[in-house]
Amino acid sequence: MRDAAPQTIYLKDYTPFGYLIDGVQLTFKLHPTQTRVLSRIQFRPNPEATDKTFFLHGEQLKLISAKIDGADITPSVTDAGLTATVPDAPFVFEAEVEISPSTNFALEGLYMSNGMYCTQCEAEGFRKITYYPDRPDVMATFDVRVEGDEKVLLSNGNPGVSGPGFADWSDPWKKPAYLFALVAGDLINHPDRFTTKSGKDVELNIYVRPGDEGKCAFGMQALKKSMRWDEYVYGREYDLDIFNIVAVDDFNMGAMENKGLNVFNSSAVLASPETSTDANFERIEAIIAHEYFHNWTGNRITCRDWFQLCLKEGLTVYRDQQFTADMRSAPVARIDNVLALRARQFPEDQGPLSHPVRPEQFQEINNFYTSTVYEKGAEVIGMLKTLVGDAEYYKALDLYFDRHDGDAATIEDWITVFQDSTGRDLTQFKLWYSQSGTPKLSIREEWDASSGTFTLHFTQSTATTPGQTTKDAKLIPIAVGLLAADGRETHATRILEMTKADQSFAFTGLSARPVPSILRGFSAPVMLDQNIDNARRAFLLAHDTDAFNRWEAGRDLARDTLLSMIRNDAAPNPDYLSGLHAVLSDSDLDPAYRALMVGQPSETELAGVLADAGETPDPAKIHAASEALRDAKAKALADILPQLYAENQVTGAYEPDATGAGKRALGNAALSMLTRLDAGEAAEKQYSTADNMTLQLAALAKLLDAGKGDAALSAFYAQWKEDRLVIDKWFALQIMHAKPQDVAAVTAKLTQHTDFDMKNPNRFRSVIGPLAAHHAGFHHESGDAYSLLADWLIKLDPLNPQTTARMCAACQTWKRYDSARQAKIKIQLERILATPDLSRDTTEMITRILG
Ligand code: ARG
Ligand code: ZN
Repeated sequence: MRDAAPQTIYLKDYTPFGYLIDGVQLTFKLHPTQTRVLSRIQFRPNPEATDKTFFLHGEQLKLISAKIDGADITPSVTDAGLTATVPDAPFVFEAEVEISPSTNFALEGLYMSNGMYCTQCEAEGFRKITYYPDRPDVMATFDVRVEGDEKVLLSNGNPGVSGPGFADWSDPWKKPAYLFALVAGDLINHPDRFTTKSGKDVELNIYVRPGDEGKCAFGMQALKKSMRWDEYVYGREYDLDIFNIVAVDDFNMGAMENKGLNVFNSSAVLASPETSTDANFERIEAIIAHEYFHNWTGNRITCRDWFQLCLKEGLTVYRDQQFTADMRSAPVARIDNVLALRARQFPEDQGPLSHPVRPEQFQEINNFYTSTVYEKGAEVIGMLKTLVGDAEYYKALDLYFDRHDGDAATIEDWITVFQDSTGRDLTQFKLWYSQSGTPKLSIREEWDASSGTFTLHFTQSTATTPGQTTKDAKLIPIAVGLLAADGRETHATRILEMTKADQSFAFTGLSARPVPSILRGFSAPVMLDQNIDNARRAFLLAHDTDAFNRWEAGRDLARDTLLSMIRNDAAPNPDYLSGLHAVLSDSDLDPAYRALMVGQPSETELAGVLADAGETPDPAKIHAASEALRDAKAKALADILPQLYAENQVTGAYEPDATGAGKRALGNAALSMLTRLDAGEAAEKQYSTADNMTLQLAALAKLLDAGKGDAALSAFYAQWKEDRLVIDKWFALQIMHAKPQDVAAVTAKLTQHTDFDMKNPNRFRSVIGPLAAHHAGFHHESGDAYSLLADWLIKLDPLNPQTTARMCAACQTWKRYDSARQAKIKIQLERILATPDLSRDTTEMITRILG
């Protein structure tokens, strides 16, 4: 086994480390296969710890020498670390180790990407760099010397002395090892400056590979906006003289918030109008903000242990969502967030991988960087803010920063801050952190005309999840408004606090039966079970004053009509089609919002709804119904489509702002429907005239749908073959738009393409990702896609366990399907599990999925 034997780590077993660190000095002598790392660490006994075992993590290190207080020692070394006997007084530990960054394809620790050195240490990668107590509650200041021939030599903190072949860096802020970073390469710099609210001048840099310097400007603007926003909204200023961002092509995730030296997947920072879509621009803006916001929520206040991951991630996602809402359209941002939550977090929380926002056990922590920890974690913060109100929320945050600056904190600390600050007892609310599963909220309405009383009866229930057979009632904030029969709002939004399993709320003194709008703004991450008819939904689609619920009403109509089409071969619901017609014709509505209205529940979501109702989803039927509804929409909207398309063409130079993006989104949505009527004529025209990637890629997708994509596909490749991020799109699009029966074959063929490189996570994900995401293709009855996925996971695992393990999640819903499909998936899961030397990451994932 490459990994130490799998071991389960429990939250309840936490104990502090036996030693504190007063300072760390590191010297890196860079070499592709023989990098030397010299460390000098000042330790002192931790008065608060009883266990004084001196164990330092260390994996895949060649120990050259170790010393304590200058004298050579011979520690006992295993594949997990070293243990030594140390004085019961302050002492200096020194070590020299050798590592090989160029053969590190796991992309964790120090590795190489296109000739540059870079690091990824979160969560437990620092132990692949040198021997160290690699746990977030051990914090220290770091002084680093980087020695190498590269033009740019970077580490955390502020720059010190540098000269030919070396650079010194010094980080005055105590930090855990997971925030350590080093970068060395012949990079080009896109510089700028920022003056903080209190007048501190900060140097900003985005470092990229030569050739990418033209793609930095947008990221830099996003960084400056983020810095300003955090000053004004949360009162948080930047705290070093310099802030560096580096773009790296080979990266397992989006980006990483290393102190003063953020490392980004190049896909999460590089942007230009010609090569990036509006969605790319928006994602980049959000990720830059996210990593920057971590400087306070994550770095200045970090996590005591990895079980507390949501302390920094849930809060930082919440903050980046607020930022996006402020920079763009708040209702559109909210709908986007809920769509993402339902697409990723709901399936996770309703299947074998379900775990609490704060997990209580793990084998491989990398497997818990999940949508539950991140996105549901953010929903929990949002509910807290709803419950205490804006003013109390920001007051509590001030106390959090005051009280815990410099700490490695816990969820208990966080909750205590809110209790102390607001005086509220949050014991029940805290269940959101410990209880997994998506609560279902059922509603019954009662109208008493004689007393003018309207009552909402709510029932909450949560299905059992792995390891949790009993569920207690949670505190659910339910935002409700009331409308009159003529569509006017008679009662503005009010928050009902549900604390019991069954609870009723009465509205009195009404002159007529109202129409309630429930769970406005998606005020809690629950599934609504609302027994209302389509006429009611059509009414809400026409009149709801809450933008989210208005969209939701259209979504519910689409879902219900799709379900009847799947179940009973019903015709598309005319109320839905006419409601959509009205909304799309309403030019007072934001184009971005109207574009979202055109969407319909994904095939994966529909499969989930059917499974939840105890039925067995048939992927082919779901696909046919989804396509039929799209056809029906195109026909029903035929009279307005040409104008809708024409009105939403943006003239002038491309700008990635929300207004332009919204128009392009609506224009492209209109194009999708038009393509069903004109056999690709408009798409062809758009393809040949497009001057930005948003229009070009959408046109290419439509041409593929129309079966006319071959020429454009080759032209696109020829045009963009030097641009790796665009070629990622080229790979993905062909699979996403393949016919279900062709998905496996198209994917298999693309893996033979000379540009396919499994070692590059972006490229791997752009091919194997869509294979698993194409619902009807992945679940095609042949089972070919299942075995193809397994083949590639088995191939990637020895190189890159983290990315392999992540992609296993594609199989988490396997028990939804019929026994023939289940059997086919199970064979593949068992084949993966039986692979010799399978990583700890993948072993844990497959074992949990098999259940
Ligand atoms: N902290 C990083 C972020 O949220 C992500 C790190 C992911 N690490 C991992 N091992 N999966 O921005
Ligand atoms: Zn994060």
